[in-house]
Amino acid sequence: MPRQIFIGSMIHADENEEVIFKKNVTILVDDGKIIDVMENPDQQKIDNFHADEVNNLSSGQFIIPGFIDCHTHAVQFPNLGLGFDKTLLDWLETYTFPLERQYTDQEFAEKVFEIVVKETIFNGTTTACYFASLYTEASAILAQKCSDLGQRAFIGKINMNAPRHDGYYESTEKSIETTKAFIEAVEKIGNPLVQPIITPRFALSCDMELMKKLANIAKEKDLRIQSHVSENKDEVKAVKEKFGKAYTNVYDTVGLLTNKTILAHGIYLEDSELDILAKRGTAIIHCPCSNINLKSGLCDVRKIKDKNIVVGLGTDVSGGSNYSFLGEIRSALHVSISLHLTGDDVPRDYVPLDYKDFFIMATLGGAKALSIEDKVGNFMPGKEFDALIIDLNAEHSFLNNFREYTLEENLQRFIYSGNDHNIVSVYVKGRKVKMTDVAPATCEGL
Ligand code: GUN
Ligand code: FE
Repeated sequence: MPRQIFIGSMIHADENEEVIFKKNVTILVDDGKIIDVMENPDQQKIDNFHADEVNNLSSGQFIIPGFIDCHTHAVQFPNLGLGFDKTLLDWLETYTFPLERQYTDQEFAEKVFEIVVKETIFNGTTTACYFASLYTEASAILAQKCSDLGQRAFIGKINMNAPRHDGYYESTEKSIETTKAFIEAVEKIGNPLVQPIITPRFALSCDMELMKKLANIAKEKDLRIQSHVSENKDEVKAVKEKFGKAYTNVYDTVGLLTNKTILAHGIYLEDSELDILAKRGTAIIHCPCSNINLKSGLCDVRKIKDKNIVVGLGTDVSGGSNYSFLGEIRSALHVSISLHLTGDDVPRDYVPLDYKDFFIMATLGGAKALSIEDKVGNFMPGKEFDALIIDLNAEHSFLNNFREYTLEENLQRFIYSGNDHNIVSVYVKGRKVKMTDVAPATCEGL
């Protein structure tokens, strides 16, 4: 790995979760690790570093940490933008499960996942936490793609043992067996950037026995856990009917709530449930685009954060209709502002979260949710270099043609009005995984 230097403007959240804007810094990166971030570069230190590569950012450019998508479904990309005439439970039955059953076809899996990983990288997602497939082989194909294309990723082989008429489930025994086989398959890839995550789909598709066994595997192997919680009112009611207790309590009873667990949505959590999550150190993943598309509801993430629960952001494709993380941040802003304008259940003086809050959530917040804040999320020395170079003068972008802007204004304009053209380079652990001269993935042959 080359020794790299990056010189230019930098924006990130510091350890106090405050956004820091620096006009001119020099970042030293050795073997993908940040060695130093200097405001007044020490020439001696730079000379002694013997860089293989020096990247001088131009005046319209700045560097930010890579986006961390804490919740998305790789298998659902072929349904992007489809099916929003339904709400969650009907949407799963009508559109989602039939698509997901197609992943016994490994050639199909290969083609879809190539596009998923390339396109998400192209849009600045340096870490993705994926729901993969019920099927071990397809799930392993996704892990291999992430490894080959250089995306940091958590890959979950989905567990479902609730019997269904269409056969889209596994017996408890098979579910455990295939989960273990999948973990082995990912270990065999041998890339520390790609790791398995235990993935019971949601309480309605699993019984207590399966969830307990999965919690045990996570404990034995020290793995992260992901699932869904409290996304839709009918779903919450069905969980209560099936298990006789609140959604969060179901997961807590079986041992699924750890400080390495992330739960997507969490719109309708009671205060007592939030208290349990806070106590266990479990994070909530906010998926605003999906919550709107499926008419699930407006999630008050300020309330969740105020309970000292870590919140990350997730695109939740294909409940979410965009895989661009900028799009997700905008949805989060719109939901927060909608709560401020119309929310019946929020205080009258409700202050919406702003673009800086969601920039933090998209970077350091996501890293904390996934328990990788020791590795990524900002540019503290010792962390790995996952970064985006943003250029507001990029081709097909006119954002900087009008006048001079401050760095703070430029972050705001990128978040509200930028697009993938403005993300000119993407680095994961120092490896350049997006180059502007490479065209985005095409869907040929699908
Ligand atoms: N709950 C259970 N499965 C799913 C899914 O695939 N998407 C969403 N949004 N919610 C779910
Ligand atoms: Fe989801």
